[in-house]
Amino acid sequence: MKNTLFLDALACKNRGRPPVWLMRQAGRFLPEYRALREKHSLYELFHNSELACQVTRLPLDILGVDAAILFSDILVLVEAFGFKLQFPEGSPPVVEPLLQTPDEVRALSCQNLEERLAYVFDTIRLLKPDLNVPLIGFSGGPFTVASYMIDKCGSKDLKNTKTWLYTHPESFHQLLEKLTQATIAYLKLQVAAGVDAVQVFDSWANVLNYEQFQACSLHYLKKIIDALHPTPVILFSRGSSLFPKELAALEPRAISFDWQQDLATLRTQVPKHIAVQGNLDPHLLTAPRPLIESATRKLLASMQHQSGFIANLGHGVLPHTPVDHVRHFIDTIKAIS
Ligand code: CP3
Repeated sequence: MKNTLFLDALACKNRGRPPVWLMRQAGRFLPEYRALREKHSLYELFHNSELACQVTRLPLDILGVDAAILFSDILVLVEAFGFKLQFPEGSPPVVEPLLQTPDEVRALSCQNLEERLAYVFDTIRLLKPDLNVPLIGFSGGPFTVASYMIDKCGSKDLKNTKTWLYTHPESFHQLLEKLTQATIAYLKLQVAAGVDAVQVFDSWANVLNYEQFQACSLHYLKKIIDALHPTPVILFSRGSSLFPKELAALEPRAISFDWQQDLATLRTQVPKHIAVQGNLDPHLLTAPRPLIESATRKLLASMQHQSGFIANLGHGVLPHTPVDHVRHFIDTIKAIS
């Protein structure tokens, strides 16, 4: 591996320009990705290691980012619990059958994870030898994955998940515990196959109230961070900028922040040995290029001399973002000496 900027920043020891990568960097906004999707279904791209490997590499060649993120999805873990996962054209993924009763949760077990998700580990092993940047593995946060096992994908209010949590809290925590143990095993297998760091996406943690956020999100994220030690774990959730101190108390290697708060302000609330990642508004990259450049420069200036800063967006790059705008964002960062 030639480019270690990302790992240096995770260790809060980067002395050069900040590393940059983007959430959803391998996806929909790239014409080369859309061309592959003309020929292959999404299910095929996720399950065929050679294709997943090819998609993972696209943003490295096209954009020159400083880290690769495995091309997969947080939902593949449900296959290790025996659920059927489908990716119908033009609509959100489908998990079948959805959980409906505490008895179903009690009966749930994760089996043969290594075999059932072998295609993920094969992709990592295939990718690793030729990469000149670090490889990020990932999973969903247990709460977020639980929400996709209870509510239909694309349901923004997660009403069944929240009713379950209020009505059968013990069963809900039993589900979270089973998912946590499976996530730990899954991430450890990704590490054994070769990923250099992992990011845990607890994307939907923002629907929880404060007490539930601590009990259903933070509590389980802590178990994952501790079990993965010494692998660097980056935490992501919507609403992260509301809780810098609570997230930092879990001692992850880095926290990925949304764009609701100024990153330099958040930095003052996160101890120096924990890196911060983020946090421009993804919509900014659809704006005229001079605006992208000035907002990026402003962020960089505010984070100058921070040895633990990873430049990124506050969430995934949007499908309608022009590729040359993304490149302009990256080149602006790379121009900093
Ligand atoms: O966006 C987030 O909050 C990140 C966490 C997350 C991922 N998948 C990570 C991911 C979430 C919440 C999902 C669930 C999911 N999977 C959805 C959202 C459904 C909803 O509730 O609205 C969707 C549409 C999918 C299916 C999916 N996953 C597609 C179509 C793709 C391909 C490329 C793309 O960006 O559209 C993915 C890839 C994916 N999902 C990646 C990650 C980290 C890898 C791609 C990358 O990071 O470049």
